[in-house]
Amino acid sequence: MKARGMIVPEQMSAIRQDQPDGALKHEQLVVPRPGPGEVLVKMDASPINPSDLALLAGGYMERSYPFTPGLEGSGTVVEAGSGIFPRLRLGKRVACSPNPGGDGTWAEYMLTSAMRVVPLPEHITQEQGAMMVVNPMTAMAFMQLAREGKHRAMVNNAAASSLGKMLVRLALRQGIPLINIVRKEEQIKTLKKMGATHVLNSSSESFEEELKTLAEELGATLILDAVTGSQSSILLDAAPRGSTLLAYARLSGNPILTDPGTVMKGEKKIAGFLLGNWLETKGLLFKLIFVSKVKKALNGDLSTHINGTYPLEQVEEAIAHYREHMSEGKILLKIGSD
Ligand SMILES: NC(=O)c1ccc[n+]([C@@H]2O[C@H](COP(=O)([O-])OP(=O)(O)OC[C@H]3O[C@@H](n4cnc5c(N)ncnc54)[C@H](OP(=O)(O)O)[C@@H]3O)[C@@H](O)[C@H]2O)c1
Repeated sequence: MKARGMIVPEQMSAIRQDQPDGALKHEQLVVPRPGPGEVLVKMDASPINPSDLALLAGGYMERSYPFTPGLEGSGTVVEAGSGIFPRLRLGKRVACSPNPGGDGTWAEYMLTSAMRVVPLPEHITQEQGAMMVVNPMTAMAFMQLAREGKHRAMVNNAAASSLGKMLVRLALRQGIPLINIVRKEEQIKTLKKMGATHVLNSSSESFEEELKTLAEELGATLILDAVTGSQSSILLDAAPRGSTLLAYARLSGNPILTDPGTVMKGEKKIAGFLLGNWLETKGLLFKLIFVSKVKKALNGDLSTHINGTYPLEQVEEAIAHYREHMSEGKILLKIGSD
């Protein structure tokens, strides 16, 4: 069933990759048609996230080739397959993500499960809506994990990221001390301007000592690690007894390196976090309440600064821009014609 007044063409433009680390190609593909439980989204915008770069490089998650990249975005549901959920979404502006292993958001149209689209209220723009899933939900999840684990304070690295800035705002609002770790001097200024109290530079000589003192003083027992590699060892060394290190990305490209003695003596734990897996452990009611909280905060604590927009055809330029200026905000691919 199509949305009223909507004409869906036979063909669409899409970005494709044929092999891990392969070049991106612009192709004309047949527009897919929704099956039971599915919807067809006419895409409007999609960000470039570190997870997209990891997926393009290969080895991030199993997948078949060729495929269309893009792990989140926004658009309008223009066609619905059979079932109550697809019909309820028909004609709605939505935030969306692809089916696991399915073609993604860097195309004029994307097919996905009706459960993977979230209607956007009027106050949320297509741009902010395109970035509603990956970082805002993760930031909210981290705050929830801090509360559940009764952690008095937290540490986060790569803290000048969009997600890091959301955590700065949420931690301030919820009164949970947060030790932010960045790697450039100008990033300290940016986070302090936002009100962050504790910002350390991992490139400074006194970093390890400062981190240890502060983590002990504040009781920072939840360590959010997006960098891994040798930084995990420093984080675990500095962490108070009984801390948990939650690895949530691998920005250094290296495995978690640490002396097992540190973990054994200090009764420290190493765990992993993936938003999709975390959400899968939650029931429908939790998810509904969680998504509604995310929507409410999307123009405030969970907003994302946009550093630039590019049309889909300029995806290579967009990626190059993003790689050079990651801490300055997101680069959005604008896909819709308006
Ligand atoms: N596990 C999950 O479910 C989940 C969900 C959401 C996000 N994440 C992860 O959260 C992190 C932040 O995401 P985002 O979208 O907010 O990022 P972003 O805004 O695109 O910024 C990326 C940040 O990573 C920093 N960075 C890059 N390489 C680094 C390295 N080798 N060492 C230290 N810092 C490095 C950059 O700093 P410079 O400017 O100094 O390069 C920048 O501040 C990403 O790693 C992402 O994959 C994970």
